Amino acid sequence: MASSKLPDLKSLGGDVEDGGGGKSKAKWCPGFVQFFFVLSVVLCVMLYSPRFFALTSTYGLDFFVQPPPGTSSRIVGQDGGGGGGDVGDVVVLDNQLRTPCSSLPGDTICCDRSDFNTDVCFMAGDVRTDAASMSLLLFPQQPPVANATVEERIRPYTRKWESLIMQKIEEVRLRMARPEEEEPGHRCDVSHDAPLLVMTAGGYTGNLFHAFSDGFVPAWLTVQHLRRRVVLGVLSYNPWWAGTYSKIISGLSDYHVIDLLHDKRTHCFPGAIVGTRFHGILAVEPTRLRDNKTIVDFHNLLADVYENGEDSVPQPQQQPQQPAAARRPRLGIVSRRGTRVIENQVAMAQLARSVGFDVDIHETANGMPLSAAYAQVSACDVLVGVHGADLTKFLFLRPGAALVQIAPLGVPPIAHGCYAASSARMGLHYEQYDVRGHESSLVRKYGRDDPVVSDPESAKRGKGWDFVAHVYLGGQNVTLDLARFGETLSRMHARAVRARSSLQRAEADATMARRT
Ligand SMILES: *[C@@H]1O[C@H](CO)[C@@H](O)[C@H](O)[C@H]1NC(C)=O
Ligand SMILES: *[C@@H]1O[C@H](CO)[C@@H](O)[C@H](O)[C@H]1NC(C)=O
Ligand SMILES: *[C@@H]1O[C@H](CO)[C@@H](O)[C@H](O)[C@H]1NC(C)=O
Repeated sequence: MASSKLPDLKSLGGDVEDGGGGKSKAKWCPGFVQFFFVLSVVLCVMLYSPRFFALTSTYGLDFFVQPPPGTSSRIVGQDGGGGGGDVGDVVVLDNQLRTPCSSLPGDTICCDRSDFNTDVCFMAGDVRTDAASMSLLLFPQQPPVANATVEERIRPYTRKWESLIMQKIEEVRLRMARPEEEEPGHRCDVSHDAPLLVMTAGGYTGNLFHAFSDGFVPAWLTVQHLRRRVVLGVLSYNPWWAGTYSKIISGLSDYHVIDLLHDKRTHCFPGAIVGTRFHGILAVEPTRLRDNKTIVDFHNLLADVYENGEDSVPQPQQQPQQPAAARRPRLGIVSRRGTRVIENQVAMAQLARSVGFDVDIHETANGMPLSAAYAQVSACDVLVGVHGADLTKFLFLRPGAALVQIAPLGVPPIAHGCYAASSARMGLHYEQYDVRGHESSLVRKYGRDDPVVSDPESAKRGKGWDFVAHVYLGGQNVTLDLARFGETLSRMHARAVRARSSLQRAEADATMARRT
């Protein structure tokens, strides 16, 4: 069951510098973690109640007018030429530069299928859902031109190249309606004054890495320019997803989520976007966006919803009377269970304390709400953990903090591809600690001289993804060489102290500036 969801070994090559950006080298990033997270998903389902109810399906457009608060919107046909939501009251649906759909007239359906990872379609005009056929219908104001696009189909997910998972994503039809279809069958039950974004809560979304890399980061970079004036129409909607990610969802949209598969009402929109853009693994490429946004802006959204929300969790063990620089730097240890366990974690934590850290153990898969995980991680100066989906929480670190990823035998290329470039783009210091033979539990099973231990890259060659998933990802723990890992810890500690004192200087300067 797990293996059918795994990406192909071909994707495992070491050349994964930039996390994809539209090339096949993006492939390897973990579908595999899915399997290990089924348990945590089940746990979470029991712990969370849904906070959002939604029913709908739909697509998107090009441009439309954003009305002042309290008025209804009307659609505008033409591209304002950039500047995002700031150009008068014209809203541009496609925030991406130089795309096939970036300057379309109204009453148009336009799909951009030029990207390797994802398709995205836009509908500008009178868009209505037709739940029975999982369609979005566009009712044109004028008879459409003879060669207008009449129908498109799209599966809105960002792993277009992975056919097994794409088959499980519902297909949405975008269709130009015939005039006689309008009444009475498609009378609006619910009229929205904001456009629709159709996305899925399916795919590999049960896994934290995929939830962000395939789901929320792409959704955010596709609609952030609308400033939450967008309705999310979600396929494979489920209460677990809505509950787990409720804060992030509310950071994307001011409106109730629509459950496209189950909401049988006709929802009407001034436009729709179906599917999301994708800029690479946990990546936002500012040069491709009209408003130059970066992954740091995505981090700021997380900070905003988790720090300022009404039920935000207080920072753990914070002593507010103490200035930041007076505390010992805090090290968070991501503690996995079952696989890729740090067998000498207790000794490692002791060592970290002796080096000068306050140590906080972050258990994974314990059902902790993301808001609590945010508070825990964002309080850290350094986050360290063995490769796995939970390291996606580096998105919660403050820019300037550090991420140390421990890569077990055979895993360094995957580990690097998932988090090296993505964390650096967020302004974090990244280090990777590649485990050596004597630190791996595989030495107990295979012996020191077996190629599985002595030369993992050649052992993997020609074996397929299952081999990697079983032997290296699913069958390995690590026992850190404390002498060697101690050097990493000392370096991270010195760095954190430096970062703290420059922070202190900045705070002092700010105080001085206020006084004068
Ligand atoms: C339709 O035809 C017009 C005029 O020939 C052309 O400019 C336009 O690009 C065509 N539109 C599509 C969607 O093919
Ligand atoms: C985005 O960056 C470009 C190039 O640096 C600049 O010309 C443009 O004004 C920026 N746009 C916005 C909205 O900040
Ligand atoms: C790794 O450690 C966990 C927890 O101690 C244990 O259940 C598992 O069997 C270990 N795996 C290997 C391959 O030693």
